[in-house]
Amino acid sequence: MRQFIVVGHKAATSGDFTLDDMPGSAGRIDILARCVTAAFVTSFDIRRDTQVRLVLLGEPDPPKIIRFEGSELKYLNPDERSAGALIRKALQVKLGTEQRRSTKGVYVERAGLAEALRHSDESALFYLHEHGKDVRDVDLHANNAAFILGDHLGLFEEEEEQLSQAQRIRVGPIKLHTDQCITLVHNELDRLCST
Ligand SMILES: C[S@@+](CC[C@H](N)C(=O)[O-])C[C@H]1O[C@@H](n2cnc3c(N)ncnc32)[C@H](O)[C@@H]1O
Repeated sequence: MRQFIVVGHKAATSGDFTLDDMPGSAGRIDILARCVTAAFVTSFDIRRDTQVRLVLLGEPDPPKIIRFEGSELKYLNPDERSAGALIRKALQVKLGTEQRRSTKGVYVERAGLAEALRHSDESALFYLHEHGKDVRDVDLHANNAAFILGDHLGLFEEEEEQLSQAQRIRVGPIKLHTDQCITLVHNELDRLCST
């Protein structure tokens, strides 16, 4: 299982934003939408071995986690609006104490980064950071790894403190967008799995 956890510090936590303006009206949900696309969409297929947790921390109702399960996922197309629509639908679900399913393979719950990490405690943890160790020099535990990434703001110090178990890795020498890092991690794992 490949797991990705992405923190959206400003990402809206209500589903009343417009898909025409995800960067402005929804606290950079466009970043999270591209991460979902990068994590799951290949040419004419969906990665079934992948799970994504988006940690949304923006107003008006934080925190929320939206979990995407590749093994069950439906209705995700390659365009950004498609992922944005699934996120919006999840945010329109009224939350109680339990997680709720919004569409096939998409779940939403009241939780933050600590809970996201708790679900990954049996996986090898990797914190994606441009000053980490080169991804090609670490054992990626290709079959059971969780990768944590920041948004346009990176990760805050108090969030980094929760990642003491995680190894810092970089996918390349340049600071990239979060979704680009996900694509590169998948590529590294694909290369390992195909040898
Ligand atoms: C646009 S970057 C964050 C920019 C933010 N202003 C900062 O300086 O931290 C978004 C995320 O992508 C990941 N990232 C970017 N470049 C990377 C690299 N070369 N290797 C590994 N992760 C990277 C990190 O997780 C980062 O939090």
